[in-house]
Amino acid sequence: MPSLDEVKNRIEKLRSEINQHNYRYYVLDSPEISDGAFDSLMRELKSLEEQYPQFLTPDSPTQRVGAAPVEAFGVVAHRQPLLSLGNVFSHDELMAWYTRTARLIGDTPLDFVGEHKIDGLAVALTYVDGRFNTGATRGDGYRGENITQNLRTIRSIPLTVTGGAPPSFEVRGEVYLSRKGFHRLNQERAAEGLPLFANPRNAAAGSVRQLDPRITAQRPLDIYIYMLGWADGKATPSTHWETMEWLKSLGFKVNPNNRRLKDIADIERYYQEWEEKRKGLTYEADGIVAKINQLNLHEELGDIGHEPRWAIAYKFPADQATTVLKSIEISVGRTGSLNPYAVLEPVSVGGVTIRQAALHNEDDIRRKDIREGDTVIIQRAGEVIPEVIGPTPASRERKDRKREFRLLDKLPRDDERQPVCPVCGGRVFRPEGEVMYYCANAACPAQVQRLIEHFASRGAMDIRGIGESMAATLLRVIVVKDGDGYRPVRNVSDIYFIDKDKLAGLERMGEKSAANIVKAISGSKVRPLARIIYALGIRHVGEEMAQNLAGEFPSLEELAAASPERLMSIGAIGPKIAESIVDFFRHQENLEIIRRLKEAGVRPEEKAEKGAELPLSGREFVITGRLETMSRQAAEDRIKNLGGAARDNVTRRTDYVVVGADPGSKLARARELGISTIDEKELVRLLEGKT
Ligand code: IVH
Repeated sequence: MPSLDEVKNRIEKLRSEINQHNYRYYVLDSPEISDGAFDSLMRELKSLEEQYPQFLTPDSPTQRVGAAPVEAFGVVAHRQPLLSLGNVFSHDELMAWYTRTARLIGDTPLDFVGEHKIDGLAVALTYVDGRFNTGATRGDGYRGENITQNLRTIRSIPLTVTGGAPPSFEVRGEVYLSRKGFHRLNQERAAEGLPLFANPRNAAAGSVRQLDPRITAQRPLDIYIYMLGWADGKATPSTHWETMEWLKSLGFKVNPNNRRLKDIADIERYYQEWEEKRKGLTYEADGIVAKINQLNLHEELGDIGHEPRWAIAYKFPADQATTVLKSIEISVGRTGSLNPYAVLEPVSVGGVTIRQAALHNEDDIRRKDIREGDTVIIQRAGEVIPEVIGPTPASRERKDRKREFRLLDKLPRDDERQPVCPVCGGRVFRPEGEVMYYCANAACPAQVQRLIEHFASRGAMDIRGIGESMAATLLRVIVVKDGDGYRPVRNVSDIYFIDKDKLAGLERMGEKSAANIVKAISGSKVRPLARIIYALGIRHVGEEMAQNLAGEFPSLEELAAASPERLMSIGAIGPKIAESIVDFFRHQENLEIIRRLKEAGVRPEEKAEKGAELPLSGREFVITGRLETMSRQAAEDRIKNLGGAARDNVTRRTDYVVVGADPGSKLARARELGISTIDEKELVRLLEGKT
């Protein structure tokens, strides 16, 4: 019998050898030993770990197969936000980006790194004391989902990094499926009669967001690391290129097609080269990314919106194809909008079969002169919904073309020959100055279904289990208690009156799923006011606008009572939005929905409840003017990281207006409302926790 120490040593030796072989196989693509020899090392390790479970650790290579399912993903707050990239589509646009950027920097000569833009899923990986600690999705940029268990199954993500790594750091990269992996996966799914993934991006995202890591483990996922997020406790290189070389030396997989580029002409050449060669790549790239190499300039340039100024995506031309436009049909959206869409002769574009495409509105269809029966050019760019560009020139010339498209011709007619909604037969109208037609019936099942989907969606009330098909079901089945009887869901407030037993009795439902849905529903009753406002689906009130409104009005009742003038006194609201809000609360049905939501216990979260453990929780900041020691973006990020909120507009809810150099009208607004103003020094004190 070996001693425990001997066993421990052998286990450690095996792990380090296996890690080394994994690295050679998955990262370097150059294995040193046969698969058989590798398997026997793994078998020995597994057997030792089974006999001596006290030595089993989560970073053991045997654990890549995936741990037991997680209940749901936790949330990871990103220390620095994960940004997206600005796009350009032509040399001229690239030049415009360069000129804008160079002007901000002055005389410093720039050099660049060119990389491929892979269409996968962005992830942030943190390492603490040499071990893979947390892996997260991008989420909204500030908070992502904790998918550590799933990422552990990706062999090209090192579970441990070699000496020389900082005590803690974060790398970012793209998880993707190779074309081959994607086709293999779809073949397997076809054989099992499962629905196919539309493209590698969806397949990768779907695989990584599996609740059961054992499923993720079976998917041939890979990763390329494309930047260092942050690092503590150790100096890191001063250029992007050197950083990537250094990350490679730590064991990370970095795309070998990355290249140093000295100027714009070089960027253009790199782009042209890969535009031509991209079909031969093992993965799908939808463009190149040009990044300024000098990292000090990244700091200096900062971000605009959610995009860094120091990098740009130069996209390859979108995939196009021609096909026959069989007909133009109408669907009904959440706000009752009648949305035309194209039904196409199925055609494959960039490997994906397209059957339908978006058409925006009647005016747009006429402007592009798109008619039923035409042969049309369609375009698919990455993951966006395919679009009809227009008829082919030959098609345009044809004598026997159908007549110009009229949306009203597509609608059924009532007894008086008036056009009506294709779903509910309700009256339709087109508001002055708008391009869309709408169904006037707020109870239209199509509208209600979309509204329920919206109400339950992530940015709104976030009710897991109520998506497109569940929403459709709820409108058909008898699940809502009403007096002595039961009826289907008629509006969003009914969701909170669904009977658990009735739900469990539905075909293909069962106790467990019903219980989960009911739990999700009751768990959604307390939400920040902004989300409740957004969830109502008021026309023109998106997430940002809902935030503004929640900042100004302490309750739904007060918002409901606001006059158009009062609404327009808020910076971001013009007459159109004010009108839409007032109109919403004028409708008796909407007031009834709000009353029933309240009756069910739906209420705004108290300010202090928002993660009370963070130092700036519940406090709202607005920054005006230029800061000296940090960019505005950096200040906002730090505020958010400490649990505070950074807003664009001063409202009654604002706690502090931070006044920098040359402040704007927000300072006047703060004085008007009597809100405290602080200077940059005081802000820094708050950020450092000295309150
Ligand atoms: S840099 C702050 N480099 O593209 C810069 N991103 O629209 C953002 N992506 O979500 C990341 N390949 O997931 C960078 N070589 C590359 C990339 C890349 C793909 C993705 C990334 C991001 C999206 C930006």
